[in-house]
Amino acid sequence: MVSEPMYDPARTYQDNFDNGPFGLFASPDVLTQTGDPQSTFLGHPVYLPFGIPAGPLLNGNFVKAALDKGYDIPVYKTVRTHRYPCHAWPNVLAVKVDGDLTTANNHLTTAPGYSQPLSITNSFGVPSFDPDFWQPDLASAVAHTHKGQVVVASFQGTLNEHGSAADYIADFALGARLLKETGVKILEVNLSCPNEGTANLLCFDTVRSREVVDAIKNEVGDLPLIIKCAYFADDAKLKQLIQSVGPYIQGISSINTISAEVRDAAGNQALPGEGRLWSGVCGASIKWAGLNMVARLARLRDELDLSYTITGVGGASNATDYLDFRSAGADAVMAATSVMWNPALASEIKSQVLDAVAQ
Ligand SMILES: Cc1cc2nc3c(=O)[nH]c(=O)nc-3n(C[C@H](O)[C@H](O)[C@H](O)COP(=O)(O)O)c2cc1C
Repeated sequence: MVSEPMYDPARTYQDNFDNGPFGLFASPDVLTQTGDPQSTFLGHPVYLPFGIPAGPLLNGNFVKAALDKGYDIPVYKTVRTHRYPCHAWPNVLAVKVDGDLTTANNHLTTAPGYSQPLSITNSFGVPSFDPDFWQPDLASAVAHTHKGQVVVASFQGTLNEHGSAADYIADFALGARLLKETGVKILEVNLSCPNEGTANLLCFDTVRSREVVDAIKNEVGDLPLIIKCAYFADDAKLKQLIQSVGPYIQGISSINTISAEVRDAAGNQALPGEGRLWSGVCGASIKWAGLNMVARLARLRDELDLSYTITGVGGASNATDYLDFRSAGADAVMAATSVMWNPALASEIKSQVLDAVAQ
């Protein structure tokens, strides 16, 4: 059983942006949380360290709805320092995955409808509006925060047509400064985006990732910085990244989507346009990878005597998954796909793992 989604895949991104959120997130109800928050996230008290990662919360209206429905750590979808277009519709399709999505099981077919256990492909291309729009919009979402909640803002840099690596890195620093000006309390840099100008993800390029982190930290000083990382198959590569950036960042959020080939039932490319035969898949079939990364990040934190906060992401869809991530070493847990079709998930988990929640 799934609920009416808060982001409607049948509509365009712009339509969702202008008219969403939908379903439960469109209702004015506010979850009442009583007593004092018993947890913290990067120094901020939260009732439950559970939230929505960068993606489904397209703008301030979505973030405000998430806060009202009891998501104590919502992330404002990744922004850029200038307007950037969205890929052509459709941007979200359900996919069939037998078991876990792995490199041995990544040739997928679309599913006719959205049902549990739910896995989807999402393909937006990280669209953005100008800071003139998102700075006041984010500031108003931050002002909407209730007791025991904190908003996170995600961003990434863009390589311009004639841009050098130095310009690309400077664009991350500019994004961080523009976000800091909004009064948001925590930044998240998306290192699981393409390392623009190369064929790889940024987090797989240790040297460039370190340059980006240094540039951001020089700009924002003590403002807590989370890095969003993809699933690493290679342990040595993960250790190299953590050794290089771990001392300078405050949090790591992992994982992002895992790439798969997606065709329709007739065997044709499912998402229209060049470069979209392979796209990112998220939801239940990647939970194994999210748990695996959390456990490895927790081990590395001990081994390297570091202190970053770990946010576990990937396929969490109920209280058991939340607890599985916490047991693996996550300080906080976030869910995107499952929350899109079950916007009541935060209150459901809270009613199972917290005492003092009045509905
Ligand atoms: C609709 C949608 C849009 C997303 N957009 C972004 C994004 O802009 N930036 C980002 O870092 N991750 C983005 N993600 C990835 C999620 O943050 C998350 O890492 C991934 O979906 C795995 O979590 P899940 O299995 O709970 O969906 C997006 C995910 C979804 C479903």
